[in-house]
Amino acid sequence: MTLQKSVSCVESSVAWQMATKSFWANLPKPIIGLAPMEGYSDTAFRQVCKHVNPAIVTYTEFTSADGLSHGAKRLKEKLAFASSEQPIVAQIFGKHVETFIRAADVCQEMGFSGIDINMGCPAKKVVKSEHGVALRRNLDLAFQLIETLARHCTVPISVKTRLGWSDSSDLVQFGIGAQQAGADMICIHARTYKEPYNVPAHFDPVYEMKKQVSIPVLGNGGITSVDDGLSKLGNLDGFLIGQASFGNPWVFSSSPHTFEEKIPLIIQHAEWMVESKGPKFGILEMRKHLLQYVKAFPGAKQFRSALCHVSNIDDIRISLDQIAHHAAHYEKLS
Ligand SMILES: Cc1cc2nc3c(=O)[nH]c(=O)nc-3n(C[C@H](O)[C@H](O)[C@H](O)COP(=O)(O)O)c2cc1C
Repeated sequence: MTLQKSVSCVESSVAWQMATKSFWANLPKPIIGLAPMEGYSDTAFRQVCKHVNPAIVTYTEFTSADGLSHGAKRLKEKLAFASSEQPIVAQIFGKHVETFIRAADVCQEMGFSGIDINMGCPAKKVVKSEHGVALRRNLDLAFQLIETLARHCTVPISVKTRLGWSDSSDLVQFGIGAQQAGADMICIHARTYKEPYNVPAHFDPVYEMKKQVSIPVLGNGGITSVDDGLSKLGNLDGFLIGQASFGNPWVFSSSPHTFEEKIPLIIQHAEWMVESKGPKFGILEMRKHLLQYVKAFPGAKQFRSALCHVSNIDDIRISLDQIAHHAAHYEKLS
């Protein structure tokens, strides 16, 4: 079975448009995107999700502005993307105005459609350095970073943040301030810093914030499908899907019916992974995705160990074919 035949491919109604400051405002609504996720939303996985639904927007994994500004080759390689991924947004984190400017120059030269500032990461190391969500406790600096990039860059500047630190009481103030500083879009992960990823997201404060700003606002958090996102859209301009895409890029469209039909895209994922990260590291990275691809399938337990030990694309193909053989049995029963 060929890849083209097996995947459900929603034709993009949007011809790719050159990035301008009004890029977010001009995108057809609702905007649907793959959330930035360190360790997941790399070029291979972004291409997989775009293959399923070419109309989605994707972000890079968050990348250090300090590192980029010092010309770190490894970080530039991490940011690399295929032209088919457009429109794609580079996400950067940090706290120094000067390094943000130099990092933004790198991103613009690389041809990104936009630059997003991470103000939501709760990782201990990041918060301790006063990056990520820590900027929600330093609003002057947060707005200064937005304003500097908004003035300096020709591409649009967006911000991804959380409801707040321990509640959402300053979300409206944040939204208005970010807009005044020049942000072209805000995405809110509808959980506070204190809340873990598995507690339900609360969208009401995001709807309230959107009432007070005119720039596009995206919601994110706990969205399990496009229909689920549409049901939570309210007055927002779109939404991002994160963890529900793990092992299920079809979340952006409709899922193929059988495991066998999923195999060509999974193999293509592995090929893009090897292309971007090399045969050794690419396959190592692919193992966690393979486990995600089979996680919901009841008969897959016995194959997990084999998937954890694949060392090349042929191994992957053999394991997936064996699983498909067993899956056919379960699928017949269901
Ligand atoms: C493994 C992992 C890595 C993440 N990395 C980033 C990141 O690099 N930048 C960012 O803004 N958010 C990051 N996030 C947060 C997601 O973008 C998203 O806001 C969060 O997962 C909530 O959406 P979900 O419930 O649909 O997963 C990460 C989340 C996860 C689970």
